[in-house]
Amino acid sequence: MKEKVSKAVSRRAQEITPFLVMDILERAKQLESQGEHVIHLEIGEPDFPTPEVVKDAAYRAMAAGETLYTHSQGLLELRETLCRHYLTKYGVRLAPEQFIVTSGTSPAMVLIFAALLDPGDEVVLSDPHYSCYPNFLHLVDAKPHYVRVWEEEGFQFRPDELKPHLNPHTKALIINSPANPTGTLLSEERLARLADLGLYVVSDEIYHGLVYEGKEHSILEYTDRAFVINGFSKLYAMTGWRLGFVIAPLDFVRPIQKLMQNFFISANPFVQRAGIAALTEAQPELEQMRLTYDKRRHFLLDGLQRLGFNIPVPPTGAFYVFVNARHLSEDSYALAFDILEQAKVGVTPGIDFGAGGEGYLRFSYANSLENLAEALRRLEVYLKRRSSGKNR
Ligand SMILES: Cc1ncc(COP(=O)(O)O)c(C=O)c1O
Repeated sequence: MKEKVSKAVSRRAQEITPFLVMDILERAKQLESQGEHVIHLEIGEPDFPTPEVVKDAAYRAMAAGETLYTHSQGLLELRETLCRHYLTKYGVRLAPEQFIVTSGTSPAMVLIFAALLDPGDEVVLSDPHYSCYPNFLHLVDAKPHYVRVWEEEGFQFRPDELKPHLNPHTKALIINSPANPTGTLLSEERLARLADLGLYVVSDEIYHGLVYEGKEHSILEYTDRAFVINGFSKLYAMTGWRLGFVIAPLDFVRPIQKLMQNFFISANPFVQRAGIAALTEAQPELEQMRLTYDKRRHFLLDGLQRLGFNIPVPPTGAFYVFVNARHLSEDSYALAFDILEQAKVGVTPGIDFGAGGEGYLRFSYANSLENLAEALRRLEVYLKRRSSGKNR
């Protein structure tokens, strides 16, 4: 896995770790080019097309000549629509000035961390966690401080046990609920106690709306000492459009706006118009997608449990199931490759999400019921052969 790097490449760039799921995907593509049929359960991307009303809004905006820079914080109309959304959905009253619209959630993280963190600052991160978080921190020479979370508790922080992990350099805490890779949600009670720790909370709410049991809560219901990052990629099936936003405390707005002006200038205008349509007109399509994901979630959970995987806290959000596969192997990277080679099913190795994810596999159900059924059938054959020693 060690990559050859020229000595001229900066230390910062060298420290960026690769996305291991890409190794799986590349091998899967190679197998496909050799005529094999691979089922992709490794990808964290909706398999639905973007709703028509959203596309129409973009076409109309482009035809009307909305093709130039916008205000660096984004179209006022989009920010006002977002304010209404936060009021209706969470009961949180925000000002349009608190929003900075970005080209995806990923650039939103760059902006927040650049505005909040100095070199040497520490940020508390769950282990396992979304793979890219530590790399965003490295970019500004800040450090992740990992705290193990456990499957028996849906991989969520124990707020009472965080205090010993804090030191004078600890500036912030990252939360992600519903979470990637685990698909689980933080309870209201834990969210409230995390908000009380006195740290800045950076809340990645990108999977909000993709919730099948219970209700998701925004960190802003509990504290205003928080940054929200969110985007349109997952809920609205808009990964390729690149649209997201930051909600920042008022004293951070101008610093973030200056970063935005310098590094990104503005988000794309017709994509912002599409964002307004997504928020105001796409509800029927969204509900249809959510119900479909939920059916698949039940189907995959049942199937995996039938195959002998123990899932103590079933996921209730996003579109992932994170399963303990230690009874098969301690090496999730080798196991994911073996499953791909033998069963032609792509899954993501848990090690991609930190040391705490080792021994686990992430299955995405952003794929049809038909493909999930076939993937489970192939896994059953794989496991039978493996237990009879024929795979090794
Ligand atoms: C938890 C989480 N945050 C952020 C992102 C990045 O999203 P975007 O497409 O908006 O940059 C992803 C994408 O997989 C994610 O899973």
